[in-house]
Amino acid sequence: MSSFSGARPSLGVWLVGAAGHVGACTIAGWAAVRAGLIPPTGLITADAPLDGLPLVGLDDVVFGGHELAGRTVDDAARALVAEGVLPAAVVEAPAVRAALAAAAAELRPGVDGEGAGDALDRVRDDLAAFRDRHGVARLVVVNVASTEPPLAPEPEHDAWPDDPDALLAAVRAGRRLPASALYAAAALDLGAGYVNFTPSTGAELPGLRALARVRGAVHAGADGKTGQTLVKTVLAPMFAIRRLRVRSWVSHNVLGNADGAALDDPARRASKQRSKAAPLAAILGYAPESHVGIDYVPSYGDWKVAWDRIVFEGFGGAQMSLELTWRGSDTALAAPLCIDLIRLVELALRRGERGALAYLGLFFKRPVGTHEHRLDRQWLALLAHVLPALAAAAPDVGEPGGEGDGAVGSVGDDTAVTERGPA
Ligand SMILES: NC(=O)c1ccc[n+]([C@@H]2O[C@H](COP(=O)([O-])OP(=O)(O)OC[C@H]3O[C@@H](n4cnc5c(N)ncnc54)[C@H](O)[C@@H]3O)[C@@H](O)[C@H]2O)c1
Repeated sequence: MSSFSGARPSLGVWLVGAAGHVGACTIAGWAAVRAGLIPPTGLITADAPLDGLPLVGLDDVVFGGHELAGRTVDDAARALVAEGVLPAAVVEAPAVRAALAAAAAELRPGVDGEGAGDALDRVRDDLAAFRDRHGVARLVVVNVASTEPPLAPEPEHDAWPDDPDALLAAVRAGRRLPASALYAAAALDLGAGYVNFTPSTGAELPGLRALARVRGAVHAGADGKTGQTLVKTVLAPMFAIRRLRVRSWVSHNVLGNADGAALDDPARRASKQRSKAAPLAAILGYAPESHVGIDYVPSYGDWKVAWDRIVFEGFGGAQMSLELTWRGSDTALAAPLCIDLIRLVELALRRGERGALAYLGLFFKRPVGTHEHRLDRQWLALLAHVLPALAAAAPDVGEPGGEGDGAVGSVGDDTAVTERGPA
């Protein structure tokens, strides 16, 4: 079976880390929504106004992906049932089982850690073969693999080239890139869409961003904004607008899934802490004392607890505080974002856009191409881009960094490089 409908699909979706929680939940969730087994709760593309866009149909897709040895999509789907993320009846339904089996047949061995020319060419060949085997018109690659440590600082005498061909040549000559950047390079070189749902390097090297523009590829990232950071980017603007001075903002996360196990490694955790810390100063316009803790407690499983304590100062120096606790299924929060992103990135490719899709910033903790972190502004920026007629009818719908932004600490777009070609 090549697609949900059995007909030739127009979109190939390639999940890097397909047999992880988010990967398997994206495949199973896509099939379950398509079959009407679950409602599209949490999918912003399934409701007004975005459901009016000419998005790819849910039955018009084929899934594949890269994984490391020993992991299967099936095991991951069963783990989601065992952890109470998806009902057994959904995962065992024939439509979902068929989708998981079809994706499992398209899994290829991933690149572990880092690699150079051989690894790049192998990944590129895997993607091209998948695209050609199914005859898909477009390909979207989503990185849902384990978080990597931050990229090592570049030696001063040997910076990564900004020129895309020079960068690819350096890799083919033996210079090693982290796996996430290799996957991104392969996807962008093929003119595909690339989504970095993780804090890993992905497409963040200037040479890779240039590669996207040259090849007519698009990319979005980084690190899905699913829980604690989502709340932060709604709440911080309140303090900014009401001129309540935030003295400190301490955030803690306790989680027990495989992502939590990976983040127990201090180097990987540093990547996640960097993206979780990004929005606060950008929204407030100053940097309060802040701390982001991430603790791995296996018995919590997928059900993450995020705790925030904010100390702030009001009129006459009055010291006040706010505490909140959020408990959520990490994976159930993430999978619908992946589905939305896949459909919006496919549309961007079809519309001939190229480069960083800054208008998809509302999906990410550390959005590429913009410094706008406020959720409501990000939502308006998305609408302004994909539904300009609607935006024109509503006077307060503008791009981030538009009128009246300075006072609350927005720095607006920086490198918004999205270009639109012929429709
Ligand atoms: N709410 C969320 O769940 C959420 C939010 C934002 C970001 N993320 C990020 O999404 C990613 C996936 O989360 P998860 O909960 O599914 O984790 P997971 O550990 O369940 O899955 C990750 C998968 O990636 C695979 N993998 C690791 N390195 C790989 C490589 N080099 N190539 C191919 N596959 C590789 C692993 O074998 C594993 O199956 C993590 O980086 C996480 O930080 C998750």
